[in-house]
Amino acid sequence: MLRHFITIRDIPAQTALDLVRRAKEMKETRHVGDVLRGKVLVLIFEKASTRTRISFEVGVRRLGGQCILMTPAESQLGRAEPLKDTARVLSRYSDGMIVRTFGEDKLHQIMRYCAIPVINALTDEGHPCQVMSDVLTMYERHPDLPSLHVAWVGDGNNMANSWIEAAMRFSFSLTLACPEGYDPDAGLLAAANREGARVKLCRDPREAVSGAHYVNTDVWASMGQEIEQRAREKVFRDYRVDADLMRLARPGAAFMHCLPAHRGEEVTEEVFESPASIVFDQAENRLHMQMAIMEWVFS
Ligand code: CP
Ligand code: NVA
Repeated sequence: MLRHFITIRDIPAQTALDLVRRAKEMKETRHVGDVLRGKVLVLIFEKASTRTRISFEVGVRRLGGQCILMTPAESQLGRAEPLKDTARVLSRYSDGMIVRTFGEDKLHQIMRYCAIPVINALTDEGHPCQVMSDVLTMYERHPDLPSLHVAWVGDGNNMANSWIEAAMRFSFSLTLACPEGYDPDAGLLAAANREGARVKLCRDPREAVSGAHYVNTDVWASMGQEIEQRAREKVFRDYRVDADLMRLARPGAAFMHCLPAHRGEEVTEEVFESPASIVFDQAENRLHMQMAIMEWVFS
């Protein structure tokens, strides 16, 4: 059966939990198997990346496979060769694609035109591999995920959308504080509501953080929005995670960020470097979580 990994919402709740457990087992035992032996994966990255690219490259090799990086600057992608043509060509050479791009419709286009698995390495709409890794990071500390309250402070961006999907599948409660005009995807919020997920949107970061086990934020301007940076600095001024805000969370609450972080903008240096910050555990878990995802996709 051909499998893809495009959004967390696409995956049944039990499968999502099994993937997190498998990632934890791979991390603890270092027995990762060789599901990618004899396979070659193409990494198409239309946006910059440190963690995602390197953790996938390392993960592919640990699972016995090989990979090739393709960027617009060094391929015909940057010279407007249609994605549907690129997809058809690559599917004749390789065994899977790991794609970081702009609109998620591009992933759907690739899937329509090729018969090999596609993994979402970030789009404007979601960052499922990151948030699955973040759920693994919480699971290691609190295996009873439904007992958790998670706060999101800042932009209703790709990360926020994937956190909503994670709340739908892992049943923890999630409150997002986003400034007006910067809400997460409305259709997704409505779906979460319909499914009875404990997802709430508010405007006040203090309300979101109150009693939270985990406090999450992300940059104010995501990749592709650089031109809005100055305007966003004004809008998001009151959405900075600082020590005062962290004090409203539950005692022992952890600070989370997918990285890269802009210190002094969405988070203070003090919080970022504090013992409450688990950002490098999150970064490490990209490797383990993505190996479990690849094992699921390719077995
Ligand atoms: N968190 C994350 O996806 O980082 P990179 O942009 O460095 O891949
Ligand atoms: N929201 C950020 C996440 C980076 C990993 C972006 O899309 O740039």
